[in-house]
Amino acid sequence: MRIPGPERQEDGGLSAIAAVGGLHRYQLLLHEEYGPVVRFQLPGADAAVSVADPVLLEATAHLDKRPEALFAFLDPLCEAGNLQVLPTGEHTPWRRLLLSVFAGRPSHERHFAGFTESARELADRWAETVEDEEVELQKELTALSLRMIGGFALGGGGGDGEAGGEEEGGADRVVVAFEEVLTEHLGRLYQVPRTDPHAAERAEAALAYLRGRVDRVVAAHRSDGRTGRSDLIGALVEAGESPARIRDTVMMTLLAAHHTTGVAVSWTLRLLGRHSDVADRVVAELDRVLGDRAAPDYGDLRRLPYLDRVLKESMRLFPPGPYGARETDEDLALGPYEIPAGTTVFYPFWAVHLNPAYWPDPERFDPERFTPREVARRPRLAYIPFGIGPRSCEGAALATVEAQLILAVLLKRLRFRPVPGHEVTPVERFVLWARDGIRMTVRPRRA
Ligand code: HEM
Repeated sequence: MRIPGPERQEDGGLSAIAAVGGLHRYQLLLHEEYGPVVRFQLPGADAAVSVADPVLLEATAHLDKRPEALFAFLDPLCEAGNLQVLPTGEHTPWRRLLLSVFAGRPSHERHFAGFTESARELADRWAETVEDEEVELQKELTALSLRMIGGFALGGGGGDGEAGGEEEGGADRVVVAFEEVLTEHLGRLYQVPRTDPHAAERAEAALAYLRGRVDRVVAAHRSDGRTGRSDLIGALVEAGESPARIRDTVMMTLLAAHHTTGVAVSWTLRLLGRHSDVADRVVAELDRVLGDRAAPDYGDLRRLPYLDRVLKESMRLFPPGPYGARETDEDLALGPYEIPAGTTVFYPFWAVHLNPAYWPDPERFDPERFTPREVARRPRLAYIPFGIGPRSCEGAALATVEAQLILAVLLKRLRFRPVPGHEVTPVERFVLWARDGIRMTVRPRRA
């Protein structure tokens, strides 16, 4: 049976995607018009098939290859092979190692105090703003996530907050350098016009600085055999990974971890600002579990189930990574359709999360969708903010800990309200990013 989809276009689908404001919206419209399985053109993948049905997705869950052309923009960030498209033989042990660090409770616990300190610093600063001052959540919260993951990946301590190291000014320099690298490379991908003629040079220098930082942490591990400084680098050194692969892994971790977690928290606060009944329930739960304490312990997170539902519902409505992709290496049966080997299979996470067959009234914000009973009624792949199968996100557990902690610290102390007239438009900038930021007013809760 032929897969439905739009007519073939000479420009490879570019203008159709641009006309609706980007691929993230295009995929919603395609599925609305053609159903759960759609054939379409995509720059870099002439024959792509998008699947928005969680039951049909099961047939693709084993796929273990990403299409190289779609991820080529990350080539310059890697010295030892683009980590997004590593061949399975190299990827599987690398993934196992990452999971042992990112998903392991011991490393979460070790970094929890540092994460908390960083979140509290932001809460303190916001608590001191003039009452009802506007803050831009997306920028501040992605910077906070970068501080946290910088500390996690490069090692923290030395009075430098949770953010990347023993060196003087380490935290801030890591944040600034990585932002420079990212702005340049995402700018190239999304063809943002350059205003600074030296941006490329500065990004190059920033990348060299970050790689040098990794090398110094690696050298410290090798020289005194300590593994406590950076769990990630320690594990990579002990597994015998090359210095280049270690540098690449740290870069990829910073990249994968910080915008995603930062926007997840930003979208959640925005939704809570518009749904005060839900915000009140979150705060009541925090008061009950934390009492007078300003921040949760690691063990408290499990006692905040309502906060967890709110975060999940927010990532359903605004999945930080709006889509993923794989390539078939043999013919694949997908319900009534046959997909030939070499096809790009597109995972439209956003469209899956808004599929009305599994999510009644899909645009409505309703954390009750994530009670254990409701979850058990849906197919496993109806909710996939961290992707699917052997290339899914290794940082899911760590990201959840970070996001819950930040939300708990901020909401225990502060109340966020929407800025009247400020329109928030989701666009795709590698993550689901608000085009003009997410501005909200903030005031201390007990004022
Ligand atoms: C709310 C925060 C986050 C979200 C929503 C998110 C989502 C995703 C998604 C959708 C993918 C692609 C999955 C696929 O293709 O099926 C991915 C990949 C990845 N993520 Fe995350 N992520 C988050 C945070 C993190 C964090 C904190 C880390 C690291 C500590 C991380 C590390 C990675 C890595 C290494 C990959 C590449 C996976 C591979 O190729 O094996 N992510 N993430």
